[in-house]
Amino acid sequence: MSLTTMGKDGLQVESVALGEVAARFGTPCYVYSRAALTAAYGAYRDALQAHGLLDRSLVCYAVKANSNLAILNLFARLGAGFDIVSGGELARVLAAGGRADKIVFSGVGKSRTEMRAALEAGIHCFNVESASELDQLNEVAGSAAHRAPVSLRVNPDVDAKTHPYISTGLKNAKFGVAFDQAFDLYIRAASLPHIALKGIDCHIGSQLLDPAPAAEAADKVLALVDRLAAAGITLEHIDLGGGMGIQYRAGEPAPSAADYLAPMLARLAGRREKLVFEPGRSLVGNAGLLLTRVEVLKPGAEKHFAVVDAAMNDLMRPALYDAWHDILKVGAGTTANCAATSAANAMAYEIVGPVCESGDFLGHDRELALNEGDLLAILSAGAYGMAMASNYNSRPRAAEVMIDGDVMHLIRRREDIADLFALESVLP
Ligand code: LLP
Repeated sequence: MSLTTMGKDGLQVESVALGEVAARFGTPCYVYSRAALTAAYGAYRDALQAHGLLDRSLVCYAVKANSNLAILNLFARLGAGFDIVSGGELARVLAAGGRADKIVFSGVGKSRTEMRAALEAGIHCFNVESASELDQLNEVAGSAAHRAPVSLRVNPDVDAKTHPYISTGLKNAKFGVAFDQAFDLYIRAASLPHIALKGIDCHIGSQLLDPAPAAEAADKVLALVDRLAAAGITLEHIDLGGGMGIQYRAGEPAPSAADYLAPMLARLAGRREKLVFEPGRSLVGNAGLLLTRVEVLKPGAEKHFAVVDAAMNDLMRPALYDAWHDILKVGAGTTANCAATSAANAMAYEIVGPVCESGDFLGHDRELALNEGDLLAILSAGAYGMAMASNYNSRPRAAEVMIDGDVMHLIRRREDIADLFALESVLP
């Protein structure tokens, strides 16, 4: 399902024209669809249902993909759990009405303060990534008179075949406990007084378009679970992480949740353990776009530039990973642009922001007929867009709007200039 459709007033999300969003809330602006978020979550539920696994599964939304309270609240209402990686994310989930007992806590470097806060909240499980972390958690739990529920995150040494920056399951990665040390660490964990062994966890990377590496990782994990059971350690749940990729480019093949999960679910169907998944991108990525306006057209000797009011500080993925996002013209309807637009000739533009770096681009070589003042929609920006935004170049962060049918909800106001240095002070 595509997030946008063409209406009489140009591109729209659900029943709201993007021109109306820009007129009311300005640009740059992130726009999300409640229906699309709900459908993405529904696709996971349906896939689990089809394999008879829904009742013993927990879909923990990876908060890092987009941590807006309205989005967290929506997933909480749908029954989701949450995968967090910091005390900040823990606080967000609780503030958004998420249940603590459906939270798993991932990450290679949890602080003692974060451990304590999560123990006090009563989370479902810590995904522990090293022997030292296990000892620290045992100590923190002991001093708080708790037992910490624990999974070990194992590193299965599987090549996820994705961008190296978001590949996490190879031996040389900083993530997880090395596969050949995991068994011994489980044995040791079982002897620690303030650790309660609950499960096993694995996450091999992000934006995976092929389900095979995840299935290979699942095989390794299941073999380890069985070996542990034979040694007297029975685990209650198996967490296979997140990672399912989405379509960023029209025509590019991308799996459905049903197809991506099928090989994993087939392996799990006959077993007794509960299942946990940690999807981020696939729940929010294609449910959001970044709306931006063309400020300046700058024809050049070799390239034509369209300078827009969004930049790498708003959407960092192109600069950081050379990532592709489809860019559409919002088109008709927004004022006088309409007539002028039709007069413009399509040509290849570099879509760039105003930030002072050549890496500040949102798209290369995009064939568009543009006029200054036109609105553009940068698609597939719901995941790792706003969540990775910064104030670089002292640019206030964008507004975020959720569309629900024909209603627009402002779910994060645009930062203003005063916000930029509200936390700073000059020397006395
Ligand atoms: N679980 C763990 C332990 C993770 O590290 C991640 C993502 C997820 C789950 C969710 O993975 P997903 O379903 O979203 O693929 N900023 C990058 C992506 C970084 C992913 C980090 N970890 C990007 O914009 O592509």
